[in-house]
Amino acid sequence: MKIIVLGSSAGGGFPQWNCNCRNCDGIRRGTINARARTQSSIAVSANGIDWVLINASPDILTQIRATPALQPARSGRDTGIAAVMLMDAQIDHVTGLLMLREGKTLPLYCTPSVWDDLTTGLPLVHVLSHYCGVQWHLLSANHTGMSSMQLPGVEGIRFTPLALKSKAPPYSPHREQPQPGDNIGLIIENMANGKKLFYAPGLGEIEPHVETAMHAADCVLVDGTLWTEDEMIEQGFSEKKSADMGHLPQSGKGGMIEVLDAVGTRRKILIHINNTNPILDEDSDERAILTQHGIEVAFDGMEITL
Ligand code: MLT
Ligand code: MN
Ligand code: ZN
Repeated sequence: MKIIVLGSSAGGGFPQWNCNCRNCDGIRRGTINARARTQSSIAVSANGIDWVLINASPDILTQIRATPALQPARSGRDTGIAAVMLMDAQIDHVTGLLMLREGKTLPLYCTPSVWDDLTTGLPLVHVLSHYCGVQWHLLSANHTGMSSMQLPGVEGIRFTPLALKSKAPPYSPHREQPQPGDNIGLIIENMANGKKLFYAPGLGEIEPHVETAMHAADCVLVDGTLWTEDEMIEQGFSEKKSADMGHLPQSGKGGMIEVLDAVGTRRKILIHINNTNPILDEDSDERAILTQHGIEVAFDGMEITL
Protein backbone atom coordinates (compact mmCIF):
# COMPACT_ATOMS: atom_id res chain seq x y z
CA MET A 1 0.00 0.00 0.00
CA LYS A 2 1.30 3.40 -0.95
CA ILE A 3 0.41 6.70 0.67
CA ILE A 4 1.41 9.92 -1.09
CA VAL A 5 1.38 13.18 0.86
CA LEU A 6 -0.13 15.60 -1.65
CA GLY A 7 -0.17 18.55 0.73
CA SER A 8 1.42 18.81 4.17
CA SER A 9 0.45 22.31 5.28
CA ALA A 10 -2.50 23.53 7.32
CA GLY A 11 -5.04 26.03 5.95
CA GLY A 12 -3.32 28.91 4.16
CA GLY A 13 -0.40 26.82 2.88
CA PHE A 14 3.27 27.74 3.27
CA PRO A 15 4.12 30.48 2.56
CA GLN A 16 0.66 31.92 3.16
CA TRP A 17 -0.17 34.63 0.58
CA ASN A 18 -0.55 37.51 3.05
CA CYS A 19 1.77 36.36 5.82
CA ASN A 20 5.11 37.79 6.82
CA CYS A 21 5.80 35.67 9.86
CA ARG A 22 9.42 34.56 10.31
CA ASN A 23 8.79 31.42 8.27
CA CYS A 24 6.75 32.90 5.40
CA ASP A 25 9.05 35.87 5.00
CA GLY A 26 12.11 33.65 5.43
CA ILE A 27 11.14 31.17 2.70
CA ARG A 28 10.33 33.99 0.26
CA ARG A 29 13.68 35.64 0.88
CA GLY A 30 15.59 32.35 1.01
CA THR A 31 16.89 33.14 4.50
CA ILE A 32 15.62 29.94 6.11
CA ASN A 33 16.07 26.31 5.18
CA ALA A 34 12.50 25.23 4.47
CA ARG A 35 10.26 23.76 1.75
CA ALA A 36 7.06 25.34 0.46
CA ARG A 37 3.98 23.26 1.19
CA THR A 38 0.45 23.02 -0.21
CA GLN A 39 -2.66 22.42 1.86
CA SER A 40 -3.46 19.18 3.63
CA SER A 41 -4.34 16.06 1.60
CA ILE A 42 -3.11 12.51 1.02
CA ALA A 43 -3.80 9.81 -1.57
CA VAL A 44 -3.72 6.07 -0.90
CA SER A 45 -3.67 3.02 -3.17
CA ALA A 46 -2.88 -0.66 -2.87
CA ASN A 47 -2.55 -1.42 -6.61
CA GLY A 48 -0.97 1.89 -7.67
CA ILE A 49 -3.83 2.51 -10.13
CA ASP A 50 -6.96 3.24 -8.10
CA TRP A 51 -6.45 5.98 -5.52
CA VAL A 52 -8.57 7.28 -2.70
CA LEU A 53 -8.15 11.01 -2.27
CA ILE A 54 -8.36 11.78 1.41
CA ASN A 55 -9.38 15.41 1.73
CA ALA A 56 -9.67 17.67 -1.31
CA SER A 57 -7.42 20.67 -0.83
CA PRO A 58 -7.83 24.03 -2.60
CA ASP A 59 -4.38 23.23 -4.06
CA ILE A 60 -5.57 19.99 -5.66
CA LEU A 61 -4.82 20.92 -9.27
CA THR A 62 -1.20 21.71 -8.40
CA GLN A 63 -1.02 18.51 -6.38
CA ILE A 64 -2.39 16.37 -9.23
CA ARG A 65 0.11 17.95 -11.66
CA ALA A 66 2.91 17.06 -9.26
CA THR A 67 1.72 13.44 -8.92
CA PRO A 68 1.79 11.50 -12.23
CA ALA A 69 0.36 8.37 -10.53
CA LEU A 70 -2.99 10.16 -10.25
CA GLN A 71 -3.29 10.40 -14.06
CA PRO A 72 -3.18 6.89 -15.58
CA ALA A 73 -4.37 8.20 -19.02
CA ARG A 74 -6.47 5.17 -19.96
CA SER A 75 -8.89 7.22 -22.06
CA GLY A 76 -9.48 10.73 -23.40
CA ARG A 77 -10.75 11.88 -20.04
CA ASP A 78 -9.48 9.91 -17.06
CA THR A 79 -8.32 10.04 -13.46
CA GLY A 80 -6.74 7.69 -10.97
CA ILE A 81 -8.95 9.16 -8.23
CA ALA A 82 -11.55 6.47 -7.63
CA ALA A 83 -13.19 8.08 -4.58
CA VAL A 84 -12.86 11.00 -2.20
CA MET A 85 -12.99 10.71 1.59
CA LEU A 86 -13.25 13.68 3.95
CA MET A 87 -11.95 14.02 7.50
CA ASP A 88 -13.93 17.20 8.23
CA ALA A 89 -15.64 20.08 6.39
CA GLN A 90 -12.82 22.64 6.75
CA ILE A 91 -12.01 24.85 3.74
CA ASP A 92 -8.52 23.36 3.41
CA HIS A 93 -9.99 19.84 3.21
CA VAL A 94 -13.04 20.25 0.97
CA THR A 95 -12.88 23.16 -1.46
CA GLY A 96 -10.76 21.17 -3.93
CA LEU A 97 -13.95 19.25 -4.75
CA LEU A 98 -15.01 22.23 -6.87
CA MET A 99 -11.89 21.82 -8.99
CA LEU A 100 -12.89 18.25 -9.88
CA ARG A 101 -16.15 19.37 -11.49
CA GLU A 102 -15.15 18.39 -15.05
CA GLY A 103 -15.01 14.70 -14.10
CA LYS A 104 -17.58 11.95 -13.63
CA THR A 105 -19.90 11.91 -10.60
CA LEU A 106 -17.67 11.83 -7.55
CA PRO A 107 -18.11 9.05 -5.01
CA LEU A 108 -17.81 11.02 -1.76
CA TYR A 109 -17.35 9.34 1.61
CA CYS A 110 -18.07 11.51 4.64
CA THR A 111 -19.95 11.48 7.93
CA PRO A 112 -23.50 12.87 8.29
CA SER A 113 -22.18 15.94 10.15
CA VAL A 114 -19.70 16.75 7.36
CA TRP A 115 -22.46 16.18 4.77
CA ASP A 116 -24.64 18.53 6.81
CA ASP A 117 -21.97 21.26 6.65
CA LEU A 118 -21.52 20.74 2.90
CA THR A 119 -25.24 21.22 2.31
CA THR A 120 -25.68 24.22 4.68
CA GLY A 121 -22.78 26.39 5.93
CA LEU A 122 -20.58 25.60 2.90
CA PRO A 123 -23.03 24.19 0.32
CA LEU A 124 -20.48 22.75 -2.10
CA VAL A 125 -22.55 19.74 -3.02
CA HIS A 126 -25.40 21.94 -4.28
CA VAL A 127 -22.96 23.83 -6.48
CA LEU A 128 -21.44 20.57 -7.75
CA SER A 129 -24.89 19.19 -8.63
CA HIS A 130 -24.77 21.60 -11.61
CA TYR A 131 -21.53 19.96 -12.81
CA CYS A 132 -20.37 16.42 -12.02
CA GLY A 133 -22.50 15.94 -8.91
CA VAL A 134 -21.47 13.84 -5.96
CA GLN A 135 -22.70 10.50 -4.78
CA TRP A 136 -22.68 10.47 -0.98
CA HIS A 137 -21.60 7.32 0.82
CA LEU A 138 -22.03 7.22 4.56
CA LEU A 139 -18.99 7.11 6.79
CA SER A 140 -20.08 6.20 10.26
CA ALA A 141 -17.44 7.04 12.81
CA ASN A 142 -17.70 5.60 16.26
CA HIS A 143 -15.53 5.23 19.31
CA THR A 144 -14.94 1.51 19.13
CA GLY A 145 -13.50 1.59 15.64
CA MET A 146 -15.32 -1.57 14.66
CA SER A 147 -17.09 -0.37 11.51
CA SER A 148 -14.44 -1.06 8.91
CA MET A 149 -15.22 -0.73 5.24
CA GLN A 150 -13.84 -1.34 1.79
CA LEU A 151 -14.67 0.93 -1.12
CA PRO A 152 -15.99 -0.45 -4.40
CA GLY A 153 -13.32 -0.03 -7.09
CA VAL A 154 -10.53 0.22 -4.51
CA GLU A 155 -9.06 -3.16 -3.82
CA GLY A 156 -6.95 -4.33 -0.94
CA ILE A 157 -7.51 -1.52 1.56
CA ARG A 158 -9.67 -1.48 4.66
CA PHE A 159 -10.73 1.87 6.15
CA THR A 160 -11.85 2.31 9.74
CA PRO A 161 -13.14 5.80 10.58
CA LEU A 162 -12.85 6.99 14.19
CA ALA A 163 -14.70 9.95 15.72
CA LEU A 164 -12.21 12.49 17.09
CA LYS A 165 -12.36 15.53 19.32
CA SER A 166 -11.33 18.53 17.22
CA LYS A 167 -13.57 21.36 15.93
CA ALA A 168 -16.26 21.79 13.29
CA PRO A 169 -15.48 24.76 11.00
CA PRO A 170 -16.64 28.30 11.91
CA TYR A 171 -19.49 28.13 9.31
CA SER A 172 -20.78 24.79 10.59
CA PRO A 173 -24.26 24.85 12.14
CA HIS A 174 -22.76 22.75 14.95
CA ARG A 175 -19.53 24.67 15.58
CA GLU A 176 -20.53 25.14 19.23
CA GLN A 177 -22.47 21.86 19.59
CA PRO A 178 -19.86 19.24 18.73
CA GLN A 179 -21.20 16.04 17.19
CA PRO A 180 -19.38 12.75 16.72
CA GLY A 181 -18.32 12.81 13.08
CA ASP A 182 -17.48 16.55 12.84
CA ASN A 183 -13.88 15.38 12.69
CA ILE A 184 -12.63 11.90 12.08
CA GLY A 185 -9.39 9.98 11.89
CA LEU A 186 -8.78 6.85 9.87
CA ILE A 187 -7.10 3.53 10.30
CA ILE A 188 -6.01 2.56 6.77
CA GLU A 189 -5.01 -1.09 6.51
CA ASN A 190 -3.21 -2.92 3.76
CA MET A 191 -5.27 -6.12 3.69
CA ALA A 192 -2.44 -8.09 2.07
CA ASN A 193 -0.04 -7.72 5.02
CA GLY A 194 -2.11 -6.23 7.87
CA LYS A 195 0.02 -3.06 8.06
CA LYS A 196 -1.83 -0.01 9.30
CA LEU A 197 -1.57 3.74 8.99
CA PHE A 198 -3.33 5.97 11.51
CA TYR A 199 -4.19 9.31 9.88
CA ALA A 200 -5.59 12.31 11.76
CA PRO A 201 -4.66 15.76 10.41
CA GLY A 202 -6.89 17.45 13.03
CA LEU A 203 -6.53 15.95 16.48
CA GLY A 204 -7.47 18.05 19.52
CA GLU A 205 -7.41 15.43 22.23
CA ILE A 206 -6.04 11.92 22.66
CA GLU A 207 -9.07 9.92 23.74
CA PRO A 208 -8.62 6.25 24.74
CA HIS A 209 -9.86 4.85 21.39
CA VAL A 210 -7.42 7.16 19.59
CA GLU A 211 -4.55 6.03 21.78
CA THR A 212 -5.41 2.40 21.06
CA ALA A 213 -5.46 3.08 17.31
CA MET A 214 -2.12 4.90 17.48
CA HIS A 215 -0.48 2.07 19.40
CA ALA A 216 -1.76 -0.52 16.91
CA ALA A 217 -0.51 1.40 13.86
CA ASP A 218 2.75 0.78 11.98
CA CYS A 219 2.83 4.46 11.07
CA VAL A 220 1.02 7.46 12.50
CA LEU A 221 0.44 10.58 10.40
CA VAL A 222 -1.02 13.12 12.78
CA ASP A 223 -1.81 16.75 13.53
CA GLY A 224 1.31 18.91 13.44
CA THR A 225 -0.46 22.28 13.20
CA LEU A 226 1.17 24.29 15.97
CA TRP A 227 4.23 24.03 18.21
CA THR A 228 2.69 25.87 21.18
CA GLU A 229 -0.82 26.44 22.48
CA ASP A 230 -0.62 30.24 21.95
CA GLU A 231 1.68 30.44 18.93
CA MET A 232 -0.82 32.39 16.80
CA ILE A 233 -1.51 34.81 19.66
CA GLU A 234 2.18 35.34 20.48
CA GLN A 235 3.00 36.10 16.87
CA GLY A 236 0.06 38.53 16.77
CA PHE A 237 -1.90 36.74 14.01
CA SER A 238 -4.97 35.44 15.82
CA GLU A 239 -6.78 35.43 19.12
CA LYS A 240 -7.29 31.71 18.94
CA LYS A 241 -5.41 29.18 20.99
CA SER A 242 -4.51 25.82 19.52
CA ALA A 243 -7.31 24.18 21.54
CA ASP A 244 -9.86 26.69 20.19
CA MET A 245 -9.02 25.41 16.71
CA GLY A 246 -9.11 21.75 17.77
CA HIS A 247 -5.40 21.08 17.40
CA LEU A 248 -3.07 19.55 20.02
CA PRO A 249 0.27 21.44 20.01
CA GLN A 250 3.53 19.54 19.90
CA SER A 251 5.40 21.02 22.86
CA GLY A 252 4.55 21.08 26.55
CA LYS A 253 2.90 18.74 28.98
CA GLY A 254 0.47 16.37 27.30
CA GLY A 255 1.57 17.71 23.89
CA MET A 256 1.99 15.60 20.75
CA ILE A 257 5.68 14.89 21.42
CA GLU A 258 4.79 13.30 24.77
CA VAL A 259 1.93 11.40 23.16
CA LEU A 260 4.17 10.06 20.37
CA ASP A 261 6.92 9.14 22.85
CA ALA A 262 4.44 6.78 24.49
CA VAL A 263 3.50 5.19 21.15
CA GLY A 264 5.73 2.31 20.15
CA THR A 265 4.98 2.85 16.47
CA ARG A 266 7.86 2.53 14.04
CA ARG A 267 7.15 5.71 12.10
CA LYS A 268 5.72 8.91 13.56
CA ILE A 269 5.06 11.74 11.13
CA LEU A 270 3.47 15.17 11.60
CA ILE A 271 1.23 16.62 8.88
CA HIS A 272 -1.05 19.70 8.52
CA ILE A 273 1.74 22.06 9.65
CA ASN A 274 0.76 25.69 10.09
CA ASN A 275 3.03 28.28 8.46
CA THR A 276 3.85 29.84 11.85
CA ASN A 277 5.24 26.57 13.25
CA PRO A 278 9.02 26.76 13.87
CA ILE A 279 9.45 23.08 12.85
CA LEU A 280 9.14 24.19 9.21
CA ASP A 281 12.63 25.69 9.53
CA GLU A 282 14.76 22.58 9.13
CA ASP A 283 17.62 24.21 11.06
CA SER A 284 15.47 25.23 14.05
CA ASP A 285 15.91 23.97 17.61
CA GLU A 286 12.30 22.78 17.54
CA ARG A 287 12.97 20.64 14.46
CA ALA A 288 16.02 19.18 16.19
CA ILE A 289 13.86 18.25 19.19
CA LEU A 290 11.47 16.36 16.90
CA THR A 291 14.40 14.52 15.34
CA GLN A 292 15.68 13.53 18.79
CA HIS A 293 12.25 12.03 19.47
CA GLY A 294 12.22 10.12 16.17
CA ILE A 295 9.41 12.28 14.78
CA GLU A 296 9.38 13.17 11.06
CA VAL A 297 7.72 16.15 9.39
CA ALA A 298 5.69 15.37 6.26
CA PHE A 299 6.47 17.26 3.05
CA ASP A 300 4.64 17.46 -0.26
CA GLY A 301 5.46 14.42 -2.36
CA MET A 302 6.49 12.26 0.61
CA GLU A 303 5.69 8.60 -0.03
CA ILE A 304 4.98 6.06 2.67
CA THR A 305 4.88 2.36 1.84
CA LEU A 306 3.15 -0.05 4.23
C1 MLT B 1 -7.72 24.20 10.70
O1 MLT B 1 -7.62 23.00 10.54
O2 MLT B 1 -7.90 24.70 11.82
C2 MLT B 1 -7.68 25.01 9.45
O3 MLT B 1 -6.49 24.73 8.76
C3 MLT B 1 -7.95 26.43 9.63
C4 MLT B 1 -8.21 27.08 8.30
O4 MLT B 1 -8.25 26.43 7.26
O5 MLT B 1 -8.38 28.30 8.29
MN1 MN C 1 -7.08 22.57 8.50
ZN1 ZN D 1 3.31 32.77 7.98
